Amino acid sequence: MAVKFYKSENQVPLEMHKVRMVQKLNLLPVDERLKKMQEAGNNTFLLQNRDVFLDMLTDSGVNAMSDLQFAAMMRADDAYAGCETFNRVKDAIKEVFGCDNVLPAHQGRACENILAEAFCGQGKVALMNFHFTTAKAHFTRVGSTVEELIDPAGLIPKSNNPFKGNFNLENLAERIDQIGRDNVAFVRVESGTNLIGGQPVSLENMLAVTDICHDKGVISVLDASLLQDNIYFMKTREARCKYMDVKEIYHLLADHFDIIYFSARKLSFSKGGIICSKDPKYTRQLQVYIPLYEGFLTYGGIDVRTMEAMAQGLYESLDMDYISQGPMFIETLARELDEYGVPVILPAGGLGCHLNAGAFVPDMPHNQYPAAAVGTALYIISGIRGMERGTVSEQREPDGTERYAELELQRLACPRRVFTLSQIKYVADRVKWLWDNRQYIGGLQWTEEPEVLRFFFGRMKEIGNWQERLVEKFKEDFGDSL
Ligand SMILES: Cc1ncc(COP(=O)(O)O)c(C=O)c1O
Repeated sequence: MAVKFYKSENQVPLEMHKVRMVQKLNLLPVDERLKKMQEAGNNTFLLQNRDVFLDMLTDSGVNAMSDLQFAAMMRADDAYAGCETFNRVKDAIKEVFGCDNVLPAHQGRACENILAEAFCGQGKVALMNFHFTTAKAHFTRVGSTVEELIDPAGLIPKSNNPFKGNFNLENLAERIDQIGRDNVAFVRVESGTNLIGGQPVSLENMLAVTDICHDKGVISVLDASLLQDNIYFMKTREARCKYMDVKEIYHLLADHFDIIYFSARKLSFSKGGIICSKDPKYTRQLQVYIPLYEGFLTYGGIDVRTMEAMAQGLYESLDMDYISQGPMFIETLARELDEYGVPVILPAGGLGCHLNAGAFVPDMPHNQYPAAAVGTALYIISGIRGMERGTVSEQREPDGTERYAELELQRLACPRRVFTLSQIKYVADRVKWLWDNRQYIGGLQWTEEPEVLRFFFGRMKEIGNWQERLVEKFKEDFGDSL
């Protein structure tokens, strides 16, 4: 938790860990950054990491591991079947969630694929607070539709609402009745709702969702990938949770949800994916798909050393000193930007600071992709790589028309335990400059547009030559500074 400083003006989040291994960073000159961005088709996913200074693309699989995680990796047991390593993962899941039934998968989207195979299909509807890209792609791939029942307050970019990821409870009960319980694949709650700014769901709301599901006889699923940030927000924003132990919250959720899955690239500072449940009937139903798509039931496509890191990382996800670091850094960055007038999503969520690109370039139409445009501009002027979380991240409608995102966001992820505060200050400084020079930012258009998950590998070009003019202005203001 935050340590109180003697001089309140010096107050910053204080890391409760130290850095014992470093990786050299490279900051290219601005002309080269322009060239690299254009070569990458204006898609930050297509940049090489050697050309990136601060990699804020994602918090997935890039969190810093602890000394204890590295130590644990040394004792991995790589038996194909029945390895001790998997037993240690099971022990950790039992400790954190209280669940005995555990299935491994190679990452979060693999869990989603398995849920899709087991429960989705033509005529089935997956209800959720908000979709995540890979979840929606898997559920719709097998013929299901996805419906989002987010509380409308969640889509207001700047507010005091502490739980903007909450389900609209009234609509949930009503929609289940309208659809008919047999046509509901499941109700999925995404903790730390990714695409709307890493916004948390309150404990009260999650439990109310599961009550409705039990009442109506439909399966409740918790996507716990971002649960550790969500639990930090429950502890700090929800009166009921203030004095609850972190573990008590995890256990309470596992008592109520039928199925929990998560990407260990986020939860547990490692890699891999897990599906777990208190009720063996669900894991029995799902386990047939594990050897088919992932690997044997005791490794599920995950390297055994990584599973050891996951087991240790799960224990660390109970530690408030560790789980508070990310959200506190994000809050610091978001607050500084907001005070300067830069439009950011507030309150700050987990996983990253989200620039409200729609408000950055309010006159730019959705079909010139404002969130992507702001991201390319930011890389060019700073070497910081963010991720588009707006219209480019949406899928087109089946008839080919664009589906415009509810929010046009440029996400600056803060991988957990990775950046120093001076690096966060650099981010704030360059974003402020970009805000003051936002009139230089222009739009983008497709040159190559893949049909599925286009944001990963689609290519675009600038409309006009605004990027060159942005570089000239940068040089005018910063001289020969990198
Ligand atoms: C909420 C959420 N669910 C699922 C996933 C998919 O996990 P993975 O990247 O491990 O496939 C992610 C990844 O970003 C996520 O944020």
